[in-house]
Amino acid sequence: MQKLTFPENFTWGVAASAYQIEGAWNEDGRGPSIWDTYCHTPGKIANGETGDVAIDHYHRYKEDVALMAELGIQAYRFSISWSRVIPEGAGTVNQKGLDFYDRLVDELLKRKIEPYTCLYHFDLPQALHDRGGWPERQTASAFADYARVVTERLSDRVHTIITHNEPWVTAAAGYFDGSHAPGIKDPAATFKAMHHLLLSHGLAAEAIRAAAKKPVKVGIVLNLNPVHPASDSRKDRDAAYRMDTVLNRAMLDPLLKGTTPMQEFAVGKMLTASLIKPGDLEKIRTLDLLGVNYYTRTVVKNDPKFPVAAASQVQPKGNEYSGMWEIYPEGLYELLMRVWKDYFTGPNPTFPPSLPGKGGAGGISPELMVTENGVPVPDGVDFDGRVRDERRVRYLKNHIAQVHRAIADGVPVKGYFHWSLMDNFEWALGYGQHFGLIYVDYKTQKRTVKDSGRWFADVIRENGFEL
Ligand code: GCO
Repeated sequence: MQKLTFPENFTWGVAASAYQIEGAWNEDGRGPSIWDTYCHTPGKIANGETGDVAIDHYHRYKEDVALMAELGIQAYRFSISWSRVIPEGAGTVNQKGLDFYDRLVDELLKRKIEPYTCLYHFDLPQALHDRGGWPERQTASAFADYARVVTERLSDRVHTIITHNEPWVTAAAGYFDGSHAPGIKDPAATFKAMHHLLLSHGLAAEAIRAAAKKPVKVGIVLNLNPVHPASDSRKDRDAAYRMDTVLNRAMLDPLLKGTTPMQEFAVGKMLTASLIKPGDLEKIRTLDLLGVNYYTRTVVKNDPKFPVAAASQVQPKGNEYSGMWEIYPEGLYELLMRVWKDYFTGPNPTFPPSLPGKGGAGGISPELMVTENGVPVPDGVDFDGRVRDERRVRYLKNHIAQVHRAIADGVPVKGYFHWSLMDNFEWALGYGQHFGLIYVDYKTQKRTVKDSGRWFADVIRENGFEL
């Protein structure tokens, strides 16, 4: 047995997102988002499920915050539904929508839970999509206006505002493979969406800082995967390089270095030439907090059939799998080390030497946190009312140990947020995949803390655990 202890002030949190938990899709003036439309289109979601009711968090938030407090959760990352606050995406503000988040923040603070507010987690107001959505540059300006509205209302109490959750997924799943709303399959639209999402981060950061009543940290949360070649062949290693560029560097380079790697690809070169306007990249590189979401690694082989990266994913044999992915704990260590070395401490030509010690982030030195990590495994309530999700406990132990290892090797990781607090709506997969520390009976909405939830509570209390 080895006792792993985390640094003092390490933050233990949980994460969730608006559409996955809130329900109340058409209440109190909320406008429709692209996820309402997508879920209401037959054939898009497993079993025809929707987030119309989800886990009814909109009405049960007090009970849910009380459960967080019972587990000793220190921070909660939640997202705001843009179309609840501005039903048409731009223009009239819906005070009742803002009021909900106001009450939620008050409830969290009452329980001494730090709110981490995220402005966007996949749910674009439908009205903005009807005007072109993320492939249109004006959507980035609309986002900055929305950021200002939220900041004016919440920044007296909220100290961290995250602009985007996984902008790469917003662009790739929404516009490339069409597996998420709005369900478009168009590489050109994907490049445009990607750039405008990044630009919207920069514009929103400016708006947030201008409107903040107290100093606020501006963050972004990225899905990042270490990419491994399927074999040692030159072709597969090149494929892994390309996939890493498309998957990880596409977001990291603009945000932390003020450059874009997209010009390494013929199609990217063609598209980004007119897309990226002078000054855009400077605007994008602004960050106080980088959140890393990690679930699995990506193993790829050379595959010219696939557009852009000319690489396709293979499923390696031998390791354990969850309901969705290979389980690969070392990947979290590898990722944290890589981000730290390549982006925070490495040489960077754009970094002004007059600012010492800021390393590869090019004059900015954001905090680093794990903002999502978790596992979908089947679980349920046993006869005695307990949920024995031993596999989740094991997953957490093995992954959190890798965070500890990265810290021991010099990466100042400031916190760990589990995905998710409660079982919820897993996008196109509906309610079939359980990620929660708390089990939700979707018929009755009854919540039951799982064994993993109790285990996580112990970890928080001890600021560590025995491995
Ligand atoms: C995200 C994620 C979450 C998912 C989780 C499991 O983008 O932050 O998509 O919304 O539920 O990652 O897939």
